[in-house]
Amino acid sequence: MYDTIIFDLDGTLSDNSEGIINSVSYALERMGIPTPDAATIRRFIGPPLKLTYQQYFGMDDEQSSRATDLYRERHETVGYLENELYPGIRELLTALKQRGAHLGIATGKPTVITRKILEHFGILELFDRVEGSAPMAVSNQKSVLIGRILAEFPGKAVMIGDTADDMRGAVEAGIDFIHVQYGFSGDWRPKGMPSVRSVQELQELLMEEKPMNRGVFISLEGLDGCGKTTVSRHLDTLLTQYGYEIVHTREPGGCPISEDIRALLLSTEHGEMTATAEALLYAASRYQHAHDVILPALTQGKAVVCDRYVDSSLAYQGEGRQLGMDAIRAYNRKAMELCMPDITVYLRLDAETSLGRRLSESAPDRIEQEKRDFFERAMQGFDRLAEEEPGRYMTIDASQPVEAVLAEISRRLPEALKRGGFLA
Ligand code: TYD
Repeated sequence: MYDTIIFDLDGTLSDNSEGIINSVSYALERMGIPTPDAATIRRFIGPPLKLTYQQYFGMDDEQSSRATDLYRERHETVGYLENELYPGIRELLTALKQRGAHLGIATGKPTVITRKILEHFGILELFDRVEGSAPMAVSNQKSVLIGRILAEFPGKAVMIGDTADDMRGAVEAGIDFIHVQYGFSGDWRPKGMPSVRSVQELQELLMEEKPMNRGVFISLEGLDGCGKTTVSRHLDTLLTQYGYEIVHTREPGGCPISEDIRALLLSTEHGEMTATAEALLYAASRYQHAHDVILPALTQGKAVVCDRYVDSSLAYQGEGRQLGMDAIRAYNRKAMELCMPDITVYLRLDAETSLGRRLSESAPDRIEQEKRDFFERAMQGFDRLAEEEPGRYMTIDASQPVEAVLAEISRRLPEALKRGGFLA
């Protein structure tokens, strides 16, 4: 439970887009520039206005300064009150206060205006400290504002905000961060930190007795026939014991679009598919899957167990197909930016044993039809990745009897979770 809860203002407690849109329109009108529609202006919210004027309307330094002054003229008189609290915020603040928490605000808005806005909403008295920007201050950085609040109210603290700037402030000040998706962050999500979709979810999280688990992403890798399916069931059992809700998924596939791409990739009818098209299809399937399934589950504090991820492409397409790992990294950059496994369980099996184990299988898919030297190279690829990233990789000898493999995982998983800060 948090003792001190610090909120960002715009896009977290209140939706101030109307005031911004109206004030931008006013400035443009006064400058004799036709006003774009509200949806276009909405995209201005976030970055410094002066730059936006230059970027979208080709204004020079002087013109953009004048437009900014005009914006302020309207915003600081009427625009700042064209603003509304997100539904449920008032109730949330009251509940937190009743629970005895100290509440603070750390915002880039000037303190004077912030106080007026809070007064306008009738919630000023709920806050123990309001820290906004001040024209003469040495620094108006978020971490400095947060630091001032923590100096008066130490204890377990959290910052709640909608932007990367809020997150940076929290990290620099050494406190937890909770992201709210309903503000102005668009598709951006913080990695490995909680992110809530609504005020209601935020309330559930803040009023809970114990803080939410940090989402953990575990991938399973190795040559075909290495026993991933058995191991992933075992991981489910272990992670449930640690209190995790588990999302089990696989690549290629894992969501409707990616399952369709999987069918395309593995169909034996597509023998003429080029290695590059194959690698790009794996990357496309991965991005959609990471976006639709993995990232949302992680932001809800779940454990994601994924049968293969980008390392399969690095090994199979990078080494097996000899496209090179650099090319594969470039194709997968977008997905890798969305999420990377915290732990990769590598079930190490040599090509010979892998092929032997698969002989019993009825119909091999397009990849499984490859020759032995393809799998030799893929295995060397996995070995290289394991060597390069010992912190992420948990390499297990998969030629051992299955009981021994599972016992080793039971022993090593808690260590890996502790090392990553997922378990106390
Ligand atoms: P997988 O579902 O693990 O196969 P199976 O369920 O038959 O064991 O993966 C399908 C095949 O796709 C497998 O042979 C490995 C290959 N593959 C790649 O070549 N690159 C990749 O990026 C991925 C994820 C899989």
